[in-house]
Amino acid sequence: MRADGEAILEVRELVKHYPLHRGILFRKQVGAVHAVDDLSFDLRRGETLGIVGESGCGKSTVARLLVHLERPTAGRILYKGEDVTRLSGRALKAVRRNIQMVFQDPYTSLNPRMTVGDIVGEPFEIHPEAAPKGSRRARVRELLEVVGLDPEHINRYPHQFSGGQRQRIGIARGLALRPEVIVADEPVSALDVSVQAQVVNLLARLQEEFELSYVFIAHDLSVVRHISDRVAVMYLGRFAEVGTDAEIYEHPTHPYTQALLSAVPVPDPLARARRDRILLSGDIPSPADPPSGCRFRTRCWKAREKCAEVVPGLEVPEWFRGGGAVAHASACHFAAERRVVPGEE
Ligand SMILES: Nc1ncnc2c1ncn2[C@@H]1O[C@H](COP(=O)(O)OP(=O)(O)O)[C@@H](O)[C@H]1O
Ligand code: SF4
Ligand SMILES: [Mg+2]
Repeated sequence: MRADGEAILEVRELVKHYPLHRGILFRKQVGAVHAVDDLSFDLRRGETLGIVGESGCGKSTVARLLVHLERPTAGRILYKGEDVTRLSGRALKAVRRNIQMVFQDPYTSLNPRMTVGDIVGEPFEIHPEAAPKGSRRARVRELLEVVGLDPEHINRYPHQFSGGQRQRIGIARGLALRPEVIVADEPVSALDVSVQAQVVNLLARLQEEFELSYVFIAHDLSVVRHISDRVAVMYLGRFAEVGTDAEIYEHPTHPYTQALLSAVPVPDPLARARRDRILLSGDIPSPADPPSGCRFRTRCWKAREKCAEVVPGLEVPEWFRGGGAVAHASACHFAAERRVVPGEE
């Protein structure tokens, strides 16, 4: 679906810190995990924004903040122009109805003691106004059909379904209240490669059918590529680079994106041989003690003094403002194009 440019969600300077405590009797805060730090982005109506990054970089925290399962430490989330981080009670509930989540692991996110019908219909218990009691069963059957499951299986239990089918159940539940936004947190990471594409295709079809806007989270760049209109590469609580498919995959300018891309499997052996492989040194630093300045600097082969002193802003670098595919947001003081994966020639 074509995004029309209007922002349905606006995230501004979003911060989530989890306090770290020491002691049992005299609990004392000794620091904080900087899970999400100063994040700003828009989700446009009808678009899919892919968020990619290694495990622990803060993706699920962003997801939980977006669907209001957690409150931010600081910053704002605007839904259709209204700051929802300050809402509570009924007003917050009304907003939450419109922003639903699909969880990563369909094995643990579905209650094994509930039937599929009860799982998919559960949102109607929380939002009874969404469907009159007498019509809920029929709505659930319809939802099962929409996600490609047999409505006759409404009384079965999760263990009677395969992984891919279970994720379809999770998606049906996410759709029950006819939300406008779906935040899918690694919806295919726990699935076999062979069924990943089916679930991604289902999500793409549902997006068209129900005019949904998606935040699609993955740890693998290749998974988000085809479904995303824009991709954000995340590192230690911040976005490193944001751009369209071609901008990120063919013209990456941030060293971290380049390193991630160089690790994506390339099926064609000729292309693989020509690939520019970048091996990162060192481990990801602890988010309880993130590096000063640029968070990537402890692993960056281009790091200089300025990188430790000044936090690079997420913006189009001055020297790229002339236009073209390099002119996209990159949080690097020394952003430069480096094609890592050879294009089709
Ligand atoms: N409830 C929590 N309490 C303390 N730390 C947390 C909590 N949730 C997440 N974290 C920490 O925040 C960081 C980001 O986690 P998460 O958002 O789950 O990353 P990702 O989804 O990218 O793997 C990690 O260091 C994680 O350990
Ligand atoms: S700002 Fe410096 S450390 Fe950070 S990615 Fe750019 S060159 Fe590397
Ligand atoms: Mg996660």
